Amino acid sequence: MPDASADRTGPALSALLHETRQFPPPAGFAAQANAQPGIYEEAAADPLAWWERQAEHLQWEQRWDRVLEWDLPYSKWFVGGKLNASVNCVDRHVAAGIGDRVAYHWVGEPEGDTRDITYADLKDLVAQAANALVELGVEAGDRVAIYLPMIPEAVVAMLACARLGAPHSVIFGGFSADALASRILDADARVVVTADGGWRRGTASPLKPAVDAALEQCPDVRSVLVVRRTGQDVAWHEGRDHWWHDLVDRQSTTHEAEAFDAEQPLYIMYTSGTTAKPKGILHTTGGYLVHTSTTHRLVFDLKPERDVFWTAADIGWVTGHSYIVYGPLANGATSVMYEGTPDAGGQDRWWRIVEQHKVSILYTAPTTIRTLMKWGEELPAAHDLSSLRLLGSVGEPINPEAWMWYRTNVGRDRCPIVDTWWQTETGGILISPLPGITATKPGAAMRPLPGISAKVIDNDGNEVGNGEGGYLVLTEPWPGMLRGIWGDPERYQETYWSRFPGYYFAGDGAKLDDDGDLWLLGRVDDVMNVSGHRISTAEIEHALVGHPRVAEAAVVGASDATTGQAVVAFVTVKGEVEGEEGEALVRELRDHVATVISPIAKPRQILLTPDLPKTRSGKIMRRLLRDVAEHRDLGDVTTLLDSSVVSMIDEKMRTGAASDDE
Ligand code: WT7
Repeated sequence: MPDASADRTGPALSALLHETRQFPPPAGFAAQANAQPGIYEEAAADPLAWWERQAEHLQWEQRWDRVLEWDLPYSKWFVGGKLNASVNCVDRHVAAGIGDRVAYHWVGEPEGDTRDITYADLKDLVAQAANALVELGVEAGDRVAIYLPMIPEAVVAMLACARLGAPHSVIFGGFSADALASRILDADARVVVTADGGWRRGTASPLKPAVDAALEQCPDVRSVLVVRRTGQDVAWHEGRDHWWHDLVDRQSTTHEAEAFDAEQPLYIMYTSGTTAKPKGILHTTGGYLVHTSTTHRLVFDLKPERDVFWTAADIGWVTGHSYIVYGPLANGATSVMYEGTPDAGGQDRWWRIVEQHKVSILYTAPTTIRTLMKWGEELPAAHDLSSLRLLGSVGEPINPEAWMWYRTNVGRDRCPIVDTWWQTETGGILISPLPGITATKPGAAMRPLPGISAKVIDNDGNEVGNGEGGYLVLTEPWPGMLRGIWGDPERYQETYWSRFPGYYFAGDGAKLDDDGDLWLLGRVDDVMNVSGHRISTAEIEHALVGHPRVAEAAVVGASDATTGQAVVAFVTVKGEVEGEEGEALVRELRDHVATVISPIAKPRQILLTPDLPKTRSGKIMRRLLRDVAEHRDLGDVTTLLDSSVVSMIDEKMRTGAASDDE
């Protein structure tokens, strides 16, 4: 069984355990904050009544009969209620007279390629896209795959699906054809929405060819809707492929939306688990929308009339779903949506965007903060960032150094920082300070939000005391929770509900400090966190052994100063390899992983070894390999089949014989 010890956690841990600084909520913030003192007590007194009050912020076509039906591990929220997610995100704001408000300041990667989209614009676009999907035969319950760059059509396509009750499955544009195909097949999607390509660091990078290749394995996909973004040449399948500008633009801007059951599936988002097969995390409509809009309002203190909110993440991940699309739109917020990388057009690109659009709330990942840090504090210093009033972090433990840099150089010591812990499975934020109420500590997510019940427990399921570490579990259901794994109820039960009966096991280690505040310590399973991307060791091992030269592979996540963790692979090959041939093979294997999964999964290092260290029962000793990868002392290796294997691997690692850093 994995343990919650320090070696799982990347660079953050050792530093953060010694951190003692604390920042009170800034004076002046508290008086106007959306979350007022007493909110924790109020929610704790009757959590269901509290969630029910939050649900009243949405527009329901039919009110629910019961807030929660809990048949562990299956929950239904707002039972009997009916609503339409797209109407809640768009139409009702136009009806309320704020159609002129900008929903998105969209910023394309090429300089000057920008577009402001108001709520009224969005309403027309979504209606047209919904009508187009209807023309393609999409009905409630059908799955639609979306494989797009960060362009407005991505949001429009998602909302059009939601409007029809057709669950979308957005697949990150960085995934390869194989990864795309396996997700389309698992979800049994019949329609794919894509683009010719997207812009990445000044060059047009293709997307459509990956769809064409994937669909060779997916005979049931009957229609592909293609956005023209870059103008690249694309192969065309008559009858199957349709240009967005042909099919969508000619549709009516009126579409009568149907109200769906609160538990109507809204989307499937694939994420890595501890096996090679990604899990299709299922989210439904009512509870998810309540959860994302509530947390967006409270954690980010959103004032829709004046804030400009920017989640700097990709729509292909859950952060984009919940805090670029559903949470902000349900709240009638104005958001920035940026297509490119932080250094496209110069390493100060972000600060120019903040300055130009007067961004007031910025939400990003520690890995990006560390990258911005590397580029130097002169860059943010040269821009007017005075519009910022709140900063957020998500995706991995944030090391105190990055937290302090963010606070000082971006927030100029004025802005509270919310370190928000959650997962694809949780749908929205569960653990975070509330600005204006909760003090903050560099590196701590502090405490569960109102309406959320979490504990840190030891191996035997007993709650740990202050100053102690253990496993993070959620002890009560919450509205945004996953409703299951698509097509695999057993795996749902097994992955989340079997380790500690009655509790949701998050897979993260956590610690309570002496004040009882919560610190997240990283994964305790074989899931890595590379630049805030969740990647499974098993998935990469599977890709590696799929190469004809590979006999066996073991993958571990090793600490990395920028990416948090980095992928290190230990590989035994079939036949002999020597010298230059070995180097070429290592390069080939790294590219192989990028091709089979995605460039984000490409190992930083691959070590060719004649053998892998195993226990007597034949299990690969990953913890030991991680120690080797991080050049730590090996300690006790007596349970190994052959301890000389490890010494040999360690020797190779230290002499750098295996590295292939770019
Ligand atoms: C895993 C979930 C939540 C959207 C992005 C990632 C890690 C996430 C934090 C945080 C420490 C964090 C956990 C979690 N994680 N936020 N604030 N502090 N760790 O979603 O891909 O589903 O990954 O990310 O390990 O289990 P995801």
